[in-house]
Amino acid sequence: MKTENEVKIQQEYMEKVKHMNDKSLKYTIVTMGCQLNENDSEKLCGMLEKMGYSKTQNQQEADLALFNTCCVRENAEDKLFGKLGELKRLKEQKGIIIAIGGCMMQEKHITNKIKESYPFVDILFGTHTLHKFPEDLYKVLQEKRKREDIIDIDGKIYEGLPIKRNSNKKASVTIMNGCNNFCSYCIVPYVRGRERSRQPRDIINEVKELAMQGYQEITLLGQNVNSYLKVERQKGIPFEEYEGIHSFATLLQAINKIDGIQRIRFVSPHPKDFTEDVIEAIAKCNKVCKLVHLPLQSGNTKVLKEMNRKYTKEHYLALVEKMKATIPNLTLSTDIIVGFPGETEEEFQDTLDVVKKVKFEQVYMFIYSRRVGTPGDKMENQVPEEIKHKRFNQLKTLVESQIEENNQKYVGTIQKVLVEGESKNNPNLLSGRTDSNKVVIFEGSKDLIGKIIELKIISQHMWYLKGEKDGKTK
Ligand code: 5AD
Ligand code: SF4
Repeated sequence: MKTENEVKIQQEYMEKVKHMNDKSLKYTIVTMGCQLNENDSEKLCGMLEKMGYSKTQNQQEADLALFNTCCVRENAEDKLFGKLGELKRLKEQKGIIIAIGGCMMQEKHITNKIKESYPFVDILFGTHTLHKFPEDLYKVLQEKRKREDIIDIDGKIYEGLPIKRNSNKKASVTIMNGCNNFCSYCIVPYVRGRERSRQPRDIINEVKELAMQGYQEITLLGQNVNSYLKVERQKGIPFEEYEGIHSFATLLQAINKIDGIQRIRFVSPHPKDFTEDVIEAIAKCNKVCKLVHLPLQSGNTKVLKEMNRKYTKEHYLALVEKMKATIPNLTLSTDIIVGFPGETEEEFQDTLDVVKKVKFEQVYMFIYSRRVGTPGDKMENQVPEEIKHKRFNQLKTLVESQIEENNQKYVGTIQKVLVEGESKNNPNLLSGRTDSNKVVIFEGSKDLIGKIIELKIISQHMWYLKGEKDGKTK
């Protein structure tokens, strides 16, 4: 069936649910994991609101509890099972509907556990059937039966689903789904399927629409954003070239031209797909932020090979040099895993060495977590937990020692800051972010919210900078 027809059918289900629910109903949503999952949750919220539900933070008053799960690391599983335990009583007391979707639902051992230990859950849906949530909900309400809607076949890309965004200034736009890289620690290729890119026209239309609605910052999302349309090009899968877009670099250039959009970010790229055209596009496009996320995972060539990352320590460092030489004011953030199977003390030192050399703006640190079904899980030389924790703490200490030094570089400079709103800790102050995503707190009038202004940085405080209005509003 054509995707447009499928979306139409779901729109009809949304109408049907809306009519079934005569009183106003409430839902809670818990989102685990990455920004892609956050974006999927915005679509789920969009569908729910079309069906007459409104969001609440209070579980006690909710008629429906929705979980959008992640399975990248083990802790998300503990979190889900803990929450399900808490919901059991609400299910018995008031028949709340419980729905679980997302990456974890693509894992058989997890869905089996839910069916055995938490049989009161009403709907299980996967990553490839998210668009069918209205139909699943309708059938549960109508037939009063549980529903499992999970398939293993790569989902198509469905355009035109409603969306309820979390912010009215910053929006994320998914440009591709799935991953073809099969890093040996990672579960994503198994739960999100193969890479498939959205049509250029659909992305451009979405960004133009966002610009018209007053959004200033766009984050382009994908498991491997810089291989946008690569599979299509390599395998001859047809796509419609639109506004000159046939690659990630040309996509950046086209979005850079859209009036109203002031900042463009993207996550996550893979170092191996950082081709020259992408580096140049970042350098040339004035709206593309110069903070680039460049996942390292490990600084040791042997570990990288075991991880199936397809680059060496030297390649990575050479790429950083090349990017720094081409992109003025470049800052970098990264992801690092400690304790991958077989990682020795000496090999771990290579990771610390790269961190010392590159001086990342931000490091997302992870302790290796065994994921069922991945090659890493089958490796025999697993690193003991206490060693993993020791290495994690060592890395953390190094990273924190670099933050202050990094922050110090901002003091005395003028930074362009997108003003996001009141500061969480002090409503008399405003909070915004620099191009490099640093939080800046400053005094100013509320009408600056949503604007990009110039601020002089006067001091640094580990997790934020203090600024002073000194330039003019742009
Ligand atoms: N264990 C720990 N961290 C992982 N990541 C992915 N899989 C695992 C795993 N099994 C981390 C990687 C990735 C980020 C999103 O999560 O660093 O870049
Ligand atoms: Fe989690 Fe990965 Fe799924 Fe994102 S894609 S939600 S990080 S498992």
